Amino acid sequence: MPVESRLIAHPCGPLRGEIELPGDKSISHRAVIFGALADGVSVIHHLLEGEDVLRTVAAFRAMGVPIHRDEAGAWCIQGVGIDGLSEPMDILDMGNSGTGIRLLAGLLAGQPFFSVLTGDESLRSRPMRRVAVPLARMGARLLGRDNSRFAPLAIQGTELIGIDYISPVASAQVKTALLLAGLTAAGRTSVTEPALSRDHTERMLSAFGVEVEQNGLTVAVQGRPRLRGLELTVPGDISSAAFPMVAALLVPGSEVTLTGVGINPSRTGLLDLLLEMGADITLFNSRAAGGEPVADLRVRHSRLKGIQVPPEVVPRAIDEFPVFALAAACAEGETVVTGAEELRVKESDRIRAIALGLGSQGAWIEELPDGLRIQGRSEGLDGGGIAEAFGDHRVAMTLMVAGLAARNPVTVSGRANVETSFPGFAETMIGLGGRIERWTGERAS
Ligand code: S3P
Repeated sequence: MPVESRLIAHPCGPLRGEIELPGDKSISHRAVIFGALADGVSVIHHLLEGEDVLRTVAAFRAMGVPIHRDEAGAWCIQGVGIDGLSEPMDILDMGNSGTGIRLLAGLLAGQPFFSVLTGDESLRSRPMRRVAVPLARMGARLLGRDNSRFAPLAIQGTELIGIDYISPVASAQVKTALLLAGLTAAGRTSVTEPALSRDHTERMLSAFGVEVEQNGLTVAVQGRPRLRGLELTVPGDISSAAFPMVAALLVPGSEVTLTGVGINPSRTGLLDLLLEMGADITLFNSRAAGGEPVADLRVRHSRLKGIQVPPEVVPRAIDEFPVFALAAACAEGETVVTGAEELRVKESDRIRAIALGLGSQGAWIEELPDGLRIQGRSEGLDGGGIAEAFGDHRVAMTLMVAGLAARNPVTVSGRANVETSFPGFAETMIGLGGRIERWTGERAS
């Protein structure tokens, strides 16, 4: 009989304590990529050692970039310059990472060699034309499955020419893929977005010594700059902080401090939404790390009220909607999320996954084409059921937080993939007083 592993989160008493979050996933990918393209050595502290980022590290190693982790945990990257990569001998497998595959597609389109990018089943069903189409306009020779809709992507690198691209989606992956292609292209490459997506690329390119033109929603680079190696510390990931944050809000008596969390305004949509719902969250010790604003956050149990989510906040909270939906499901009154159709093409169809998952635990939640309508149950969720993670790390962590705050345990089935973004998630929650256990047994069918 096939063996199955499940995670079971049990209702728990108050969550208390102080934790440091793992490094930001988006910033970690960029630190590895720009470090590899720089002249000289870069030393990266607090890099996220999650599966997605380790795939990016492996891809650059396969292209001849020496990267090692020292005993103290710092990652040293011997940059090879923008012309120094070599042809990988094998396919580059980016695992579960949309950021990894799309950013590398942009970079590799302008390299003088052949490469193939692929990923796991989820990644191979995520849209790639959003990068393939504009890259083709720059002259890229890139082909993928089903008329370049999906990976694997085969890329014959070539000389590119800069373009002015107006993107139909607010996507930092699209923006960054084109700017990476622009680094190797002739002339200037600009990207204009319908709304500002996370701006870590712009900040980090500047820190590496590249001149970045920014004008409203347009960002541009000139081709063939030099990047200077640097030392930086990656802030804690606010997208990971979201899980203990919502857990502390929902479990009565909780008070949790999250230290060193990145609070880049292009990422703090969830904080704004929770504060509007009445959450008791205090920011203190504001400072800067690696060109990014950072703070400590104190979160206390709160009674939340439902809200209408303004569509303009969506890009600033895009990865947080699974756990936001849980907060709304336990609030008083109705919450409506619209303008969030991008959630359908994340690691899973998150609108469906979250409606099914939280719905199976007693949430009153309805799928909309581009969002969710949630009738809050301020008495909390029943729990007691089995919910499917759909191989999506953020869905899995949301369901586990649901179990900590529900009246009965929540069992998470299917691949949880939590190592993608938050290695040690269960241990971290247990350290705060949570109750999560792994069950491994034989699957009945
Ligand atoms: C990311 C951008 C976002 C986000 C993803 C990370 C990045 O995706 O959802 O987790 O690092 O650039 P989109 O660009 O598709 O919105």
